[in-house]
Amino acid sequence: MTRILTGMQSSGNSHLGNYFGMMKPAKSLQDERENECFYFVADLHSFTSKQDPELFRQNQLSGVLDWLALVIDTDRSVFYRQSDIRAHTELLWYLSCLTPFGLMERAHSYKDKTAKGLEANVGLFTYPILMAADIILYDAEVVPVGKDQKQHVEMARDLAQKFNHHFGETFVLPESQIQEEVQTIPGLDGAKMSKSYGNTIEIFADEKTLKKKIMSIKTESLELGEPMVPETCNVMQYHRLFGNPNVAQLENNYRAGNIGFGDSKKQLFEFVWEYFAEARVKREKLASDPAEVENILKNGAQSANNIAEAKLELVRSKFGLSPRHLV
Ligand code: TRP
Repeated sequence: MTRILTGMQSSGNSHLGNYFGMMKPAKSLQDERENECFYFVADLHSFTSKQDPELFRQNQLSGVLDWLALVIDTDRSVFYRQSDIRAHTELLWYLSCLTPFGLMERAHSYKDKTAKGLEANVGLFTYPILMAADIILYDAEVVPVGKDQKQHVEMARDLAQKFNHHFGETFVLPESQIQEEVQTIPGLDGAKMSKSYGNTIEIFADEKTLKKKIMSIKTESLELGEPMVPETCNVMQYHRLFGNPNVAQLENNYRAGNIGFGDSKKQLFEFVWEYFAEARVKREKLASDPAEVENILKNGAQSANNIAEAKLELVRSKFGLSPRHLV
């Protein structure tokens, strides 16, 4: 058994970059029998930047629905909200007291944000320690993350090691897993798909919006009949990502110049719409049944909490703390 764990921050509707970068790999890991998966919504992390409470709630719900529709099989994964498990923030404190200040000063996320002139709160500074707590509380072995989170997982490993060294074997040392082959998903303009660049294609956009977005994918401007180069075409990249079985034929048509970008995009739209059809139905069903969603989250929280509390108790005892008078 390998214990896999990852967290996602939901900052709005999931897009294709989220899907190919995180969700699809998370699903494949879940499909492997020998894996035990812990997937959670990292909602506490989002408070490091200012949040409107109503928008926060909406984003959180939409993240939960997206993951339930696209990834989670509740029989195979523990799915929960970070904020449901008190142990994360308590372990953050114990770990903070072992964390050298200089280690946090080297965190890219903090350095990048402050370099951009963003106001740095202490939460942003200790963000990697909370993330370490998220990971090591569950003895996670493998942490699938995007490239930008690699350093944070290394810090979690450092802190677990430090703790073990100091107090004896307590935590498993986690390792990050980066999806090498799909590291950068192109956005509408060909640059990395990211909400902050405004070049995203949302997975559950309505039919009209999705079509419009796909039709607006940037392509080269060519004269009619000029041969097109499939290797450098953004639209072709998506055909490949989605595993369109007609890729070879499309490539031939490109080279022969007997298909236009418009046709290629229309085919892509049909393919994408169909690709997510089942998930769309599942999502709609869940969205209309809030009690069921709450129930799923409650069950996940229960399972996660049992593990987290047991580990936290061990940590407390290592510091010399007695079991709590109040539970
Ligand atoms: N910081 C991660 C991100 O922004 C989300 C996250 C929080 C996470 N805790 C985690 C990822 C623990 C993996 C493991 O994407």
